[in-house]
Amino acid sequence: MIGNLNHVAIVVPDLAAASAVYRDTLGARVSDPVALPAHGVTTVFVELPNTKIELLHPLGEGSPIRKFLDRHPDGGMHHVCYEVEDILAARDRLAATGARVLGDGEPKTGAHGKAVLFLHPKDFNGTLIELEQV
Ligand code: CO
Repeated sequence: MIGNLNHVAIVVPDLAAASAVYRDTLGARVSDPVALPAHGVTTVFVELPNTKIELLHPLGEGSPIRKFLDRHPDGGMHHVCYEVEDILAARDRLAATGARVLGDGEPKTGAHGKAVLFLHPKDFNGTLIELEQV
């Protein structure tokens, strides 16, 4: 059911410093910061040949990643995103196995303008999973 790894998201305490690490130390192609107020994050996209890394930093009061950064002040891996062809079929298949879909279970428009869902980390080895319809 799942296809390509679309991205790995890492919450960082300092976007400029994290961008410099990926650009200068690791030699990757790194975007300028992009503010996504609707998602409560500012993000930097690191383009790798086969996937992306998203560096996330909280934006605004109600940012959904604020608590994560409070618990992990050095930053840390936040979620992995797998591509699926049909997000509603994927959701229904997962729900039938008892896996928990976060929120109201309906896909939302994600950071790339595509339909996404998040799956409960307790059902997936402690890893928050994002599904994105491609
Ligand atoms: Co994501």
